[in-house]
Parts: sequence; structure tokens; C-alpha cells
Amino acid sequence: MGKLVPGIRGMAYGGDYNPEQWPEQVWAEDVALMREAGVNLVSVAVFGWAWLEPAPGRYEFDKLDRIMDGLHAGGIAVDLATATASPPIWFSRAHPETLPVDAAGRRLTYGSRQAICPSSPVYRRAARDLTEQLARRYAGHPALAMWHVHNEYACHNAHCYCEVSAAAFRDWLRARYGDLAGLNDAWGTAFWSQTYTDWEQVQPPLPTPTSANPGQLLDFRRFSSDEHLACFSAERDVLHELSPGVPVTTNLMTGSCFNLDYWAWAPELTGPDRLVSNDHYLLGEHPLPGPAQIAFAADLSRSLAGGPWLLMEHSTSAVNWQPRNLRKPAGQLVRDSLAHVARGSEGALFFQWRASRAGSEKWHSAMVPHAGTDSKIWREVVQLGRHLRALAPVEGARTEARVALLLDYPSAWAQEAPNQPSTEMVAFEEIRRWHTALWRAGITADLAHPGADLTGYRLVLAPALYAVDDTAVANLDGYLRAGGTLVVGAYSGLVDGCDRVRPAPLPGAFAALLGIRVEEFAPLPAGGAVRLDDGGTGANWTEELTAPDAEVVAHYADGPTAGGPAITRRAATPADRPPAGSEAAESEAGGTIGTAGGAAWYVSTRLVDADLGRLLGGIAEAAGVGPDHPVPPGVEAIRRRQPDGRSYLFLLNHGDDPAEVAAAGVDLLTGTEHFGPVRLAGGGVAVLAEPPARTAA
Ligand code: GLA
Repeated sequence: MGKLVPGIRGMAYGGDYNPEQWPEQVWAEDVALMREAGVNLVSVAVFGWAWLEPAPGRYEFDKLDRIMDGLHAGGIAVDLATATASPPIWFSRAHPETLPVDAAGRRLTYGSRQAICPSSPVYRRAARDLTEQLARRYAGHPALAMWHVHNEYACHNAHCYCEVSAAAFRDWLRARYGDLAGLNDAWGTAFWSQTYTDWEQVQPPLPTPTSANPGQLLDFRRFSSDEHLACFSAERDVLHELSPGVPVTTNLMTGSCFNLDYWAWAPELTGPDRLVSNDHYLLGEHPLPGPAQIAFAADLSRSLAGGPWLLMEHSTSAVNWQPRNLRKPAGQLVRDSLAHVARGSEGALFFQWRASRAGSEKWHSAMVPHAGTDSKIWREVVQLGRHLRALAPVEGARTEARVALLLDYPSAWAQEAPNQPSTEMVAFEEIRRWHTALWRAGITADLAHPGADLTGYRLVLAPALYAVDDTAVANLDGYLRAGGTLVVGAYSGLVDGCDRVRPAPLPGAFAALLGIRVEEFAPLPAGGAVRLDDGGTGANWTEELTAPDAEVVAHYADGPTAGGPAITRRAATPADRPPAGSEAAESEAGGTIGTAGGAAWYVSTRLVDADLGRLLGGIAEAAGVGPDHPVPPGVEAIRRRQPDGRSYLFLLNHGDDPAEVAAAGVDLLTGTEHFGPVRLAGGGVAVLAEPPARTAA
């Protein structure tokens, strides 16, 4: 794979640049400060539609010309936005049908941002026209390094319930099911007299007296993701045609947006002249620690990209949209940025360059804060610029993972429909909790789609995989037969891709593979807990199950299913092995899985964090997976490796106290050569270019 953004030197550094909010005299100072900070890439015109097209069809590019020219003169490259995320007010007034309708059936209005129905052909045409105008004018501009389509698709308008969306939904369903018989079967409409006899009767899941049809809810979420994707692809295609060779991206939100099926998006964002970029903001008051939040979002971004990606936005300090917006203490700006780089980002960009004086984001931190350059934030911004320049050798290096966590968006959506056995079984939360358990153990993980090629992984975890199609079942079965280790979490494998219960025994998709039978769910009341006979504790959920073809590793010691199996393990038997000479046998012989002989585990309750960590740590160890590097508590270690073997060890001390790590190499950030232990100050960081001995290992 070549350089992610060929138009810049080294790692990318910069942020969203909104000079339209400032008098032109400020622009020259901006460029001078960008140079001082080592900025080499800024995103321009992200919300520029109103000034780029002030009246229908009247495009005015003088201001953007001056901005682009000024940046180029200062040696700063531009990530030019297509500006389609926020149509001007004149547009919404002229085309009120392009305004989105919410789930309650209310038409939302302009005066904020993303006031768009993604299915609107009128919006799509106008967005395409603007993109085309921009591409024609700036394709050859020397400042242009990449294109930034839209901004955070579905951030505020994930689902639109208007008439236009309803018609598009019907078309989407026709393409999926062919005829009404197929639709009725998929949605199980024999239930509650819901049978459709005419396509015109089909509508988005608008308010109903009680729960709507789960198949309808699920398909509407799939449809909505596809509609946003169609908007992206249309703009991207214009850019590819008119501005060939310049990479195109759109900024995802892998840590916070679970409304788009990013696995379906990934192929549209990868390949020649495309790249995956991501925005990430810490949630200050959240059960998961900040660095674990970063690790999840960054690991998912890398997994979608299949390698390096770009952090398009994060914050220098506080955001403005949480109940209490916690600032970043000294050092965290740098550490958070490097945490993303460690997990594959080819740089770090922020929202935004200069703090806004007006508007709803005026209290959001920026690279140039309201306090000006005599500030902690500015000094750290300059320091980060130096660090990123020093990290040029890391560009292109890959973050390696031997563990995959399965994440399937539609499965998690299905689980979010009403009338589940317990409201506490939220898939996205559980997947992040398992990811955090690995993060605490220092084990780097990828995220993967259940149908993906898993042969490179020694361990695969399916923390919450409620809905599974036959392809995924076959894939996991093949992985196990090839000697892999699989751990399945509670309430998994129960329904098909249409949210219909799979044939008995439960869990239909996994009963044979796990060697178990679930007879009945036994959720716990709020705050309830059960003890296991191995000393562990489970929360939220238990199951009445038997293990006809698996070893019982732990039983419930109390609770509604006392005495029954809680954790099971089915070891691969000789009968499971692939026939000699088969493709699976070849891959087993040559692949990385299979060192432990293969086993399928089932965890039928939600083990509390410490017990989950212990269980997964033990299984990982047995599968031959350990931490990236041994470190004391509070220190995070992640390795990136170049194809030629050169490796870089990122050490991030999240604690306040100094820490020592047994490691050697040249710290790229300081130039210091370490032969013995590396001493990290409280909150400190190091990036070691490791000696060849380690590289060879
Ligand atoms: C998102 C948006 C930005 C800005 C930030 C604030 O990432 O893309 O325009 O609103 O949030 O945190």
C-alpha cells in the first residue's frame, strides 16, 4: 500500500479550518501559526455551502481561491470538503421537502446543520452539482491534497421518515425481496395481522400504538445506512472522475455512530484514491476509561481500512456537547493523539484550528484557543507538531493484532428492537466491554465482520452476536475446524438476518458448534448478580442450558439457574478436523491459527469486568496470544511494524506517576537511545524504534 495522502510530507497534522468565520486579516496570522505548529493539512469549507453558492446556481469561489492560495503559499495542503453536509437556508426554503422528518413524524427545520433527507433526489442533485463545481475548479490546485466528502454522515439525520424516504424504502425492499410474498415472509407479517397486500401500504416505522414489526425496524436501519452510503458514493464518483489521483474520504465516527453499517461502507472507502478517516471524541463521564474508548474507535477504524487510516478530528481539550465538558489535563492532547497513531492513524487532525467566536461550538476547544498562544493548549499543539514530524519513519507501518472481535451492525440493531427478554442486553456496549477487557490485558485486537476471513487470528471473540446468517455460521465453523479458538457471549446465534428465531435447538446458529442447548433464558432483575462455582460473578443475564457435547467449565452456584452450566468449552475433536489435503487443512498447516488445537467457548452470563478479563486472558494465553509488550499497570504499549520488519513500540503512560518499562531502542520523540528500562514521566510518552534483534523476533 502506498502513502495514504501522497500530497503531504510525513504524518498529517492539522484540523478543520473555518476562515469564513474570521476577517481576512486573521488568515495571514493563521498561516503563520500553522507553520509554527508544523501543520501540513487542513480541512476547508466543511460547512461552506452557504458562502460557496449564495443563491441557486450562483457559485462564488473568490474567497475559497484566496484561502487555497494563501495556504499553498504557506506550504499547507488542503483537504477540501464538498461542503454538502449543511445546505444553505435558501435551499431548505426553496425545497422544504428536503428537510428531514423524525420518528415522530415531525418535519425538522433549518438553522442548525444536516437538515437533510438523505433520500431526497433534489438534495442529491444539488450536492452533486456543488461537488462537480468544486472538483472542476480545484482539481488542479497545488494546495489540494485530498477530498473530504460531506461531514459525519448520519450524525444528526440518521433516519428520515418522510414520504420521499418511504418511496425509496419501498424501492429498496422491492430490490431485496422481489415481491410482497418475500417481504411478508421476511417480516413474519402473519403475526398481528400485519400482512401487506400492496407496496403502497409499506412505510417507514412511524409511530404505532405498540411495538412495530421487528423486521421492518431492522430493514429500515439497513435501508437508511445504504441511503447515506449512496450519497457518499455519488459525490466520490464525481471526484474520481474530475479529480483523478486525489484521495477521497469521508469522516466516520467509529466510536460513537452505530447507525451506519460501516462494514458495508468499508469497500467504498478503500482501494485506489480512497481512504478511511475517523473522528473521535472522548466521553468524559463514561464507564469505559478514555484510553479504552480511543483504542476501540481506532482499532475499528484500522479494521475497516484494512491497515493505516487517518484521524480526521479529535479535540485538543474539552468539547461543548456533553453535560459537563471535561478538559484534558497537561500532556493528554499529545498522548491521545499518539494513541490513535499507535493504532494505525497516519497523523492527527483536530476540530478545529481556531476556536469560534460565535455559534453553538464557541466553547469547544481548538488548536488556537480563545486564550491565544500563551496557553497550555498552544504549547502542546506545537509540541505535537514536532512529535509527528519525528514519527515520519512510522508512516505505513501496520498495527498487528492476533485477536478479532466480531461486530455486526444489523445484528446489534435487531437486538435493539423492543420486546427483548432484557433491556440490558445491548450489543454495542458488550462488544466494547470485551474489547476493553483485552485492552486492559495489553492485547491489541481487530474488529471483524462475522463473514470475514478469520484465518489470520488465533482467537475470535463474539461477545454479542444475536442475529447470524448461514454464511457467518459456516465461516465460524470453518475457522474452528481449522483449529481456531472462538468465545461466544450470551444471547448469541438466536435469530437469522431477518430477526426470525432459528430452528431448535437454541441457540440455533451455534448449538452444534458450541455443543450446548439453551432451554430458557433467565434474565436477572435490575442490579442482580449470580455467583459461579469458579468464584466468578455474572450480571444481567443467565440461561438454563445443558452441555450435551461440551465440557462445563463453571456452573451457576446460585440464582435462577443454580447448578446448571454457566461457562462451557467444546474442544475440537478429530472428527472436526479438515480432511487431509483439503484447503482448510492447508490453511491450518500454513496459517497462524490452531496452536491450541481449537475450542469453542460459551459464556452464558455477563461476567463482571474482572472475571471477564481473567477468563479472556487465560483463553488468549492458551491460544498463544499475549500482550504487545509487558508493561506496568497504567501504561499502554502498542507496536507498529513496517513490511521490512522495522518496528516501533508506542509507550503511553496514562497514570500520574512515573513508570518504568523494560524496553530498548531509540525514542523517536527525543532522539534518546535506551538500552535498559525506559522511564516514562507521569502522563509521558515514548515511541521506540526497536533494535533489529527485537525486529527479527
Ligand atoms: C464533529 C463535527 C465537527 C464538530 C465536532 C465537535 O466531529 O464533525 O464539525 O461539530 O463534532 O465536537
